[in-house]
Amino acid sequence: MEVAIGSITPLMSCSAHCWVVGKVRLDPVVEGGVSSVTDVRETVGTGAGGAGGPWGAVRDVVVVGAGQAGLSAAYHLRRAGLDPLVLDGGRGPGGAWQERWDSLTMAETHGVHDLPGVPLPAGDPAERANVAVPRYYAAYERENDLRVVRPVAVDDVSQDPDDPALLRVRATAGTGPDARGLTVRTRTLVNATGTWTRPFWPRYPGMEAFRGRQLHTHDFRSAEDFAGQHVVVVGGGASATQLLLQIAPHASGTTWVTRREPVWVEEEFSPELGRAAVARVAERTSAGLPPGSVVSVTGLPLSPRYRAGIASGVLRRRPMFDRVTASGVEWAPGANDDGLLFQPADVILWATGFRAALDHLAPLGLRAPGGGIVLDGTTAARDPRVQLVGYGPSASTIGANRAGREAARGVLRALGTSPGRGDAAGSRRPVAA
Ligand SMILES: Cc1cc2nc3c(=O)[nH]c(=O)nc-3n(C[C@H](O)[C@H](O)[C@H](O)COP(=O)(O)OP(=O)(O)OC[C@H]3O[C@@H](n4cnc5c(N)ncnc54)[C@H](O)[C@@H]3O)c2cc1C
Ligand SMILES: NC(=O)c1ccc[n+]([C@@H]2O[C@H](COP(=O)([O-])OP(=O)(O)OC[C@H]3O[C@@H](n4cnc5c(N)ncnc54)[C@H](OP(=O)(O)O)[C@@H]3O)[C@@H](O)[C@H]2O)c1
Repeated sequence: MEVAIGSITPLMSCSAHCWVVGKVRLDPVVEGGVSSVTDVRETVGTGAGGAGGPWGAVRDVVVVGAGQAGLSAAYHLRRAGLDPLVLDGGRGPGGAWQERWDSLTMAETHGVHDLPGVPLPAGDPAERANVAVPRYYAAYERENDLRVVRPVAVDDVSQDPDDPALLRVRATAGTGPDARGLTVRTRTLVNATGTWTRPFWPRYPGMEAFRGRQLHTHDFRSAEDFAGQHVVVVGGGASATQLLLQIAPHASGTTWVTRREPVWVEEEFSPELGRAAVARVAERTSAGLPPGSVVSVTGLPLSPRYRAGIASGVLRRRPMFDRVTASGVEWAPGANDDGLLFQPADVILWATGFRAALDHLAPLGLRAPGGGIVLDGTTAARDPRVQLVGYGPSASTIGANRAGREAARGVLRALGTSPGRGDAAGSRRPVAA
């Protein structure tokens, strides 16, 4: 059901930071949610999609997603004099970081880059990343007045049927039975929806018959959940290797399977290695191909923990099994050098990575025949009104940051405005498109 204009009302019993869309309460459940009483009223368009009036004004720019990439883009857009409407499907601030498993501490991340303008406060390296990063993002949203509206999940973005210059964004505000549809019309859009909401599950013969538990990295919570069980971990990236090392002390046994030999990298991860990885991803995406696995461009840096894991046998890699049976996994004769044909298992953990969460952009037909989206910088080659940040070459906290700045420039270009001096993306107010 589309929400009517008049049904977005302040809830009298709320604080000044609380609004209601139909029966859906949009409030800062966590600090940094809807940060101003004016955001929802002034920014959400009409259900009928009409322009004009305080509710139906056409937006210059809508940002979808408020992780590192969306926040960076919103920051640069505001510096450029624009007033982005930021819609985020998350429960609270933090992007995908709020969903990370509890044992991922700040010390164990691969580094969380500062958002533009406000450094990540030096904190306790032992603090959980799913606490420290969301706290930082929440403060960032507040300090920069980014007015993120959540939870609002964008369902689809399409050409506006009535105006060829506009995009139509349809979204669902709230969750559960009280969720309501919203429609916003905008001249440009920055997409920053990450990958977390699209865990990739491959298909292997027999998966449906397995009587044990199957889960994806996305749903991993704690290594203790696997106490006394035999866990087969599939995948050769950081998720697989890190989770194996955590699970092994609790499990009765672990088996690691990958479809390619792991590529161990002797060097420490450096800016040069980072640049080389980004260049490899850009090569694929500019050829119209979707990004491959992250580990296929980064390799696995041989940290002391990985060395210990290899020495102890936990990181002994086996080739991909041929099939899953009701009680384990099965290889063809000769696949394993020690002759192993069958491994009984209680759990299969699919650490098989993620895909870009872009289904909502499908109506725009941005994909090339190879399945990827060709970008010119962050601008979609097939529709310059759309910027993609945190996609392909910018899918890291550092890459997302840079992409946010570039996306703001792309938005200004699409609006017919050129960057001015002083600000990262330009300080001039946009001229009418
Ligand atoms: C386990 C794990 C650990 C990682 N560790 C690191 C690390 O240490 N260092 C590093 O640089 N990178 C790391 N990464 C990569 C990391 O995810 C990115 O670097 C970065 O945080 C992603 O930012 P983002 O803004 O692109 O996406 P996200 O943080 O995923 O934010 C996307 C936001 O968009 C929202 N959203 C999605 N779909 C919709 C929709 N349809 N409508 C509205 N909102 C939507 C989501 O709810 C979310 O809030 C890690 C990734 C994983 C999976
Ligand atoms: N401490 C941390 O900060 C931390 C912890 C975990 C993850 N991360 C980050 O999270 C991101 C995602 O990492 P990830 O390990 O989840 O994903 P990933 O690096 O993309 O790796 C996915 C793995 O799944 C394999 N795979 C894909 N399809 C498969 C199939 N059909 N059959 C078998 N295997 C298949 C891939 O193999 P191919 O390579 O052959 O495609 C690859 O080995 C990365 O940025 C990573 O650095 C960070």
